[in-house]
Amino acid sequence: MVDSLRKPDLQETKAGNQAPPKESIITPRFYTTDFEEMAQMDISVNEDELQAILEEFREDYNRHHFVRDDQFDQSWEHIDGETRRLFSEFLERSCTAEFSGFLLYKELSRRLKQDSPVLAECFNLMSRDEARHAGFLNKALSDFNLQLDLGFLTKSKSYTFFKPKFIFYATYLSEKIGYWRYITIYRHLESHPENQIYPLFRFFENWCQDENRHGDFFAAIMKSQPQFLNDWKAKLWCRFFLLSVFATMYLNDIQRKGFYALLGLDAREYDIYVIQKTNESSGRVFPIILNVDHPKFFELLDRCTQSAEKMAIAAQSNLPKPLKLLKKLPNVAAIGVNLARLYFMKPIDMTATRNTVR
Ligand SMILES: [Fe+2]
Ligand SMILES: [Fe+2]
Repeated sequence: MVDSLRKPDLQETKAGNQAPPKESIITPRFYTTDFEEMAQMDISVNEDELQAILEEFREDYNRHHFVRDDQFDQSWEHIDGETRRLFSEFLERSCTAEFSGFLLYKELSRRLKQDSPVLAECFNLMSRDEARHAGFLNKALSDFNLQLDLGFLTKSKSYTFFKPKFIFYATYLSEKIGYWRYITIYRHLESHPENQIYPLFRFFENWCQDENRHGDFFAAIMKSQPQFLNDWKAKLWCRFFLLSVFATMYLNDIQRKGFYALLGLDAREYDIYVIQKTNESSGRVFPIILNVDHPKFFELLDRCTQSAEKMAIAAQSNLPKPLKLLKKLPNVAAIGVNLARLYFMKPIDMTATRNTVR
C-alpha cells in the first residue's frame, strides 16, 4: 500500500540521527476499523471475482522479485547533503506507508479468519506483499545508515478509526494512487536512465503490480457491497476521499519538489498526471469522479500549496508563538475555503456512462 494520506513518524536509530518530523495537518494515520461489521459482510454477490483475485494472490508473482542484487553493493556516500536528506525522507515516508498497510491488513486477516475466510486470506497475502515492500525500503534506508524502528512504530502510533466502507474508499485509492506513482517513476527513469541515481526504482515495475492487484481487490469488495456505491451518500463520500487523497499528495509533493527534481521530474507535472490517471481508474468503481480537467481544478490546488508554503515559512521564523498563530490562521482558512471550492465543483457522474457502455 502506498498512502498519500500519511506522513511517517521516525524513531531515532542507532545509526541515524533523524529527529521525528513535527505533526501537521497532513500527518499520516494508521487505521483501525469495526472488525465485527467487516466480518459479517455478505460478499456472495461478487464472490467469483474475489475468489479469482485470491487465486492471483496465491500465485505470488513477486516471490523472487524483492532480492537485492549487486547493483546495491557499493557505497552511497556520494549521495550527500540536501540530496541525501531528500532521498532519505522519501525512503522513510514510503517505508512507513508500506508498513502501515502491512499492519492494517495483518490485523484484518487475523480478525476475519473465523467468519470471512476468503477476505481473511486475501488480507493475509496482501500483508505479505506490504511486509516485503516495507522490508525492501528499510534495507534501502540502511544503505544511508538509517533504519526505521518498525516495532516502535507499531507500539507508539495512534490509530484512527474508520468504518469499513471508509477503509475501503481510502485503501482502494491509496493502492491505485500508489500504482500510478510507482509506474510513472519507473517509466520516466526507463526513458531517462541518466536520472537513475539509485537501483531501487528499477524494482518499481513489478512492485506496482502488487499495488494494482491490491486496488482491484478493494474494488471487488466494494462491488460486493453495492450499498457502499449506489446512493447519494456514497457519491458525497467518494468525492470527499478523492479530493482528500489528491490534495494531500499534491501538497506533500509540491513541498518536496526537490526530491522529484533529483529524478528529473517536475513534481507538479508528475502529480497532475498521477491524479488524472488515478481519477480515471476510480471511475471503474466509484459512482463519481472529480472533474480534474476543469481549468480551475489545479489552479485551486495551487492556491492551497501557496498558503501551505506561507504557513511553513511562518512556522520556521523566530516570531513569538502568538504571532506565528496569527500568521497561520488566515492561511488555514484560505486552504479550507479553496478545498471547499474544489469539493463543490461539479463532479463527473460515472453511473450513467457505465450503464451506456453496458
Ligand atoms: Fe505496497
Ligand atoms: Fe499495496
